[in-house]
Amino acid sequence: MLITTDEIPHTKSPEQKTSWRCAVCGFLFEGEKPPKGCPVCHSPSSEFIPNGAREPLRYDGEKFDVLVINGSTHRAGNSGYMADLAEAVLRERGVSYRRYNVSEYAIDYCWCCYAVRAESCSYPCRNKNDDMPAFHAMLAASKAVIVVSPINWNGMSARLKAFLDRTTCMENLFHLNKPGLTEGKVAGILICGHEDGAIKTAMDIWLNFQQLGYVLAPFGIAFRTHGSQFNSSTDREFFRNDELIVRHTRGVVNNVIEMMQLGIEENVKGKLVPVTE
Ligand SMILES: Cc1cc2nc3c(=O)[nH]c(=O)nc-3n(C[C@H](O)[C@H](O)[C@H](O)COP(=O)(O)O)c2cc1C
Repeated sequence: MLITTDEIPHTKSPEQKTSWRCAVCGFLFEGEKPPKGCPVCHSPSSEFIPNGAREPLRYDGEKFDVLVINGSTHRAGNSGYMADLAEAVLRERGVSYRRYNVSEYAIDYCWCCYAVRAESCSYPCRNKNDDMPAFHAMLAASKAVIVVSPINWNGMSARLKAFLDRTTCMENLFHLNKPGLTEGKVAGILICGHEDGAIKTAMDIWLNFQQLGYVLAPFGIAFRTHGSQFNSSTDREFFRNDELIVRHTRGVVNNVIEMMQLGIEENVKGKLVPVTE
């Protein structure tokens, strides 16, 4: 699991400065603690992560049940809040999980090898230069995903789009008549926005997982928008005080767990006929 900046132990002496990076715009800051806010993109302090040479993300192979993906540009924004709510339910239910905020990772755009030659797009992905191979491995290893996205122009965030485009190498296994890695797994989708477009965004995300052979949990989509009559500066406060977002998010996570615990994946393995576009 990832630690938040609040949890990072400050064991250095005051003279030893840490370098902090805004995960949204890349602004760098030196200091014992991250700045109160980013002077460039105006993100709050919670968007800062320690800067420095980072090893590419690796999956250690340890089994876990649910992969939680916060697809927002903001690791600790409104989508991050929904991901926090999801984590709370998973903890309460004793379900093993890992949560990742995509803004903290290097996820390159899809090279679209498939568009050149079908056989060129296969698993593992040809692009091994970023963090996506570890996410591929975790998608294959986990039993369920919970994906969170803000609405950006009636669709998912660009960062999540890049992530989902990169799952084409797993989907294309079915076209190439190779054994699949993802069929029968369970998906839940959480969406937040300012005014509208939540259903379309959820359906766009769902289409991707459907083509990977996932099963959408019953009542597996929760969405909440604040309202165009309000200033977006008030969105964060609204989401954190809204009772419905808590109830619906917790419901989706509950329903994902219930479906996952039915063991559909083991039961349908090898029995499904892949029908993909
Ligand atoms: C580029 C951009 C496009 C957006 N488009 C929409 C939209 O089409 N519909 C909507 O309801 N909200 C839209 N929003 C508002 C965000 O969905 C909303 O602020 C969301 O809660 C932000 O989540 P975050 O804190 O995880 O980034 C847009 C925001 C941005 C920056």
